[in-house]
Amino acid sequence: MKNALHTHTELLGLIGHPIKHTFSPMMHNVASQLLDADYLYLPFDISPAELKEGISGLKALGFKGFNVTVPHKEAIFPFLDAVSEEAVVIGAVNCVVNNSGALQGYNTDAFGVQYALDPFREEITGSPVMIFGAGGASRAAVYALIRHYRPSVIHIVNRTVQRAEQIAHHFKQQMHYEGIETSESAPFDTDAIMRGCKLIINTTSLGMTPLTTDSPVSSSEGFTRDQIVFDMVYNPVKTQFLRFAEEKDAVTIEGIKMLVAQGAKSFELWTGKQMPVAEIYDTLLKYLNP
Ligand code: ATR
Repeated sequence: MKNALHTHTELLGLIGHPIKHTFSPMMHNVASQLLDADYLYLPFDISPAELKEGISGLKALGFKGFNVTVPHKEAIFPFLDAVSEEAVVIGAVNCVVNNSGALQGYNTDAFGVQYALDPFREEITGSPVMIFGAGGASRAAVYALIRHYRPSVIHIVNRTVQRAEQIAHHFKQQMHYEGIETSESAPFDTDAIMRGCKLIINTTSLGMTPLTTDSPVSSSEGFTRDQIVFDMVYNPVKTQFLRFAEEKDAVTIEGIKMLVAQGAKSFELWTGKQMPVAEIYDTLLKYLNP
């Protein structure tokens, strides 16, 4: 095994708070071993108050790159030397490359969304879409949708409607897209609008282990057999949301697809190497479906 912590081992990592249930270390360390490459990926729980010191620490230790997760995806901007076009438009960074001390921010979530949706490009393009959630993951989805599939309308449904309204305003300014409509998830009845949408995406954490009976919808009523339904929650692989969709014979896309794709893009940015995605997918699947 090459990953035996030689002096030339390249360090990669993840910063977030909290970062209890992450599969990223497994994904990147297994990929590195499969490629016989010398990288080590470590998770770091860094609170918002420690963000500045945390980033300085990673730079001082010569980390080649790191992922960024909640709650630092927006707060990290002032510490970066350059930010990619998609990360600027999305307003969130989830991947940083350290180019000899110069930090460059990217958003690989948007690539993950596109990877998951691209097999359905023709059906999605120009169609109405519904998104549950209005956080960073939702912004990445909205960006990928507008950029690649130009939906006729994007309905954003969120518990806190103001966050959905902020996204509508943001993308009107950033991408001149005026098709975002917003609703509060409760007591708003989403079923009728949902039935008119071609694509439904869950970007909230509802349904994630251990609260696996949770879902952004309480029944299968809003789903139809003509729909494509994508859940960004990847643990469990088959969420309650996707089970409801399957009850109506909708096509479903599991969150693990996006997880691996965004990870593969980060890995490529740091190492210049292609992640062996099929093997990583199988490794994760075995772990999530023992
Ligand atoms: P991410 O970067 O993964 O999108 P985030 O920015 O914290 O993370 O956003 C989490 C999303 O899940 C939000 O849409 C959040 O709703 P609020 O904006 O109202 O907070 C949603 N979410 C999380 N827990 C939820 C719950 N128990 N019920 C409903 N929505 C929830």
